Amino acid sequence: MTDNASFVARRNAAIPRGLATAAPIFLDKAENGELWDIEGHRYVDFASGIAVTNTGHRHPRVMAAAAAQAEKFAHVCFQVTGYPGYVELAERLNALAPIRNAKSIFFTTGAEATENAVKIARAHTKRPGVVTFTGAFHGRTMLTVTMTGKAAPYRTPGMPPAPYVYHVPFPIAHHGVSEEDALRALMHVFKADCPPQDVAAIVIEPVQGEGGFYQTPKPFMKKLREICDQHGICLVADEVQTGFARTGKVFAIEHYDIEPDLIPVAKALGGGFPISGVIGKAEIMDAAEPGGLGGTYAGNPISCAAALAVLDVIAEEKLCERANEIGAHMVKRINRFKTSNSLRPIGDVRGLGAMVAFELVKERGGNEPDADATKAVTAAAFDAGLILLSCGYYANTIRILAPITMPMEVLDEGLDKLEVALKA
Ligand SMILES: Cc1ncc(COP(=O)(O)O)c(C=O)c1O
Repeated sequence: MTDNASFVARRNAAIPRGLATAAPIFLDKAENGELWDIEGHRYVDFASGIAVTNTGHRHPRVMAAAAAQAEKFAHVCFQVTGYPGYVELAERLNALAPIRNAKSIFFTTGAEATENAVKIARAHTKRPGVVTFTGAFHGRTMLTVTMTGKAAPYRTPGMPPAPYVYHVPFPIAHHGVSEEDALRALMHVFKADCPPQDVAAIVIEPVQGEGGFYQTPKPFMKKLREICDQHGICLVADEVQTGFARTGKVFAIEHYDIEPDLIPVAKALGGGFPISGVIGKAEIMDAAEPGGLGGTYAGNPISCAAALAVLDVIAEEKLCERANEIGAHMVKRINRFKTSNSLRPIGDVRGLGAMVAFELVKERGGNEPDADATKAVTAAAFDAGLILLSCGYYANTIRILAPITMPMEVLDEGLDKLEVALKA
């Protein structure tokens, strides 16, 4: 049985429903920004496996590096014996990250990276508290799902939240939360729930990913840095979704004139091979005792080799510049969609580099989120041969995460399909 419908039935029988799949297809192959299912249908990929294949599916440099490492060994565990790729990758990231005197450690998933960033911050400060934001997404482990600022559907029934995690409203002006509101709420947390001298980390995404591609305002980030400096709190920039050229910089935090203390990374670092990590100030990174950090598969050798190739591709193919180029093109076309009366009402259109999104709203010129329309658009896009994801605190954001290497004609084909999907 090689048809999609049969696999959907087998999947439903074999795999729990808690793991949701956006598109009811099963893939046969992928190449740069295109996918083919087992029935031979072709799709334009505006998801990149949720911000993973920034360098495209199967980039030849990445595949060659992974294959060469696979010829040598696939696993030894860095806690048993070292291997050069791990150290080389740490050195490369330490030099690239906007942190003076950095050290890096590797894991496998984004949640592990974010959770370990908090663990490292706690080891350094010897404090328990963690402040995160509404709409934030940091993972599905017990700590990171608690840090995530949207309870449903991520917190499963009966799951107790991890202790010492406090949420502050994320500032989104057009949804009625100003930077002043958010800062006032942070002061309330300090006053009512956890004094600043008990806070280990404030964790923030430079651009919220799952939360709706809302950018942290620059003055707000600066203020957080000042508050962290004042109270000895670690500022953690979760770059799991924003990292590796997506926003037009290798790290989105480079758009801000501040130095974070810790940066969890994952997703696009491995170009499709699973790897995550934490980059941070050496004195903070060295706080945990030997044995306190790690994981059997953490920093897998094949993934390290792939990640080194990803960094080469980002530099050599100037993917930061390209992210800005395709991002500007997408924003321009979506703004044109916004003026068309034959398409569904579009609200805010935003983008930082190639991290582009827009909101679907109930009425033209209005601001009221339309989650149903958003669902309908992703379904219609799929019917038109476009893999498209929604997101957002209000579930009304369409996000575009096309591979940054996607040729312009494929990108335009995808945007044409999006236009078809937006027809009411
Ligand atoms: C900002 C951010 N942090 C953490 C995570 C968790 O990563 P993973 O799903 O690899 O555990 C995600 C995943 O989407 C993310 O976007």
